[in-house]
Amino acid sequence: MTQNSDASGLAMTTGGDYSLSTRGAKDVIDRATPRFRAALAAAAGQATGDHLVIADFGCADGGTGLEAMRQLASHAKTLRPNGSVTIVYEDQPLNDFNTLTRMVQGQAGPPPLHEPARGIYVLASGTSFYQPVLPPGSLHLGISATAMHWLSAKPTDIADHIHAVGAEGAALAAFSAQAARDWETILLARAAELAPGGRLVFCNFCRDEDGRYLGHTGGVSMFATFREIWRQFQDQGRISAAEFSAMTFPQYYRTVEEFAAPLRDATGPVTAAGLCLETIETGITPCPYAAAFDQEGGADGGDSASFARAYVPTLRSWSESTFFNGLSTGRPVAERRQVIEDFYQAYVDRVTTDPRGHAMDYVHAYMTIAKAA
Ligand SMILES: C[S@@+](CC[C@H](N)C(=O)[O-])C[C@H]1O[C@@H](n2cnc3c(N)ncnc32)[C@H](O)[C@@H]1O
Repeated sequence: MTQNSDASGLAMTTGGDYSLSTRGAKDVIDRATPRFRAALAAAAGQATGDHLVIADFGCADGGTGLEAMRQLASHAKTLRPNGSVTIVYEDQPLNDFNTLTRMVQGQAGPPPLHEPARGIYVLASGTSFYQPVLPPGSLHLGISATAMHWLSAKPTDIADHIHAVGAEGAALAAFSAQAARDWETILLARAAELAPGGRLVFCNFCRDEDGRYLGHTGGVSMFATFREIWRQFQDQGRISAAEFSAMTFPQYYRTVEEFAAPLRDATGPVTAAGLCLETIETGITPCPYAAAFDQEGGADGGDSASFARAYVPTLRSWSESTFFNGLSTGRPVAERRQVIEDFYQAYVDRVTTDPRGHAMDYVHAYMTIAKAA
């Protein structure tokens, strides 16, 4: 698996590995596609002119959302038979835009999405979604899946954990405040970009009404496992105490109330910018690797080593660069890579030894937001 050496710690793996090892993320997008289509129809109904603009914020290599985007492009053409549609893929600067380009140009297997002859144009932007990405008033539908839990900055390290799900007291308050500021920034940037009547449909990781979140839905908790193995590495002298502490994901899983708050604040800046929350609900998308293993007979009949080898790469695809960047730059790169190899191998070994309860179920809040017409 290739590795992006992104200093911000936010990179997904490259070379097409992201979409290959994230089948669950595709399931989330597929599940949201009827919402995307409905929102596009609503936005087009209030749009002037023949040209529609659709943007995917935090698109990664584009593979997980390719089918959804193809449907949306066709839908846009049905809504505006004589018009054109521009699709803008957005992600951070060090994203794997090479694979994205091959995906949309038909060089990665699926047919091209970019089809000027049909009036379908595809562009890419490496501007962070914390910044203005598109010209004011130009966007009809903005979608985003599984991306906005990445904060613009890590507000603090967490003493005895690696993720805000394990934070308490002042550390938790710092993460929650950072997440609120960041969410408002994202909403205000998108509000300026949306055309009157435009829509946003976001599928964001959340902490749901029952306290469930990614990889924490009743079985073995994924973040607790990460923490345990990382702590074990410290106990064994593989990493230092400073490296343990430095490894804190700049992520936060908001609740429905936290997502809704700025959109329901009648006197706040987000409402003043014209945004209104149309719908929000949570949903769990089961881990496809655990589901396949269960079908084989699970712990009683399945091949736990094969399950572990298929399952752990999906965790690794989004977590590896953050663990890597937690390691001291005083270590040679090869040594850092070896620590990371051993770290994920330790996870594989755990799952192989006792696969029961291991699953990275996805817990999302699905929301549709409208800009006043
Ligand atoms: C888990 S991937 C999701 C990719 C795709 N949307 C999906 O659902 O499969 C999260 C994506 O968010 C991107 N991301 C994180 N912070 C970002 C930012 N500030 N601006 C744009 N993209 C960002 C990451 O680079 C990554 O590609």
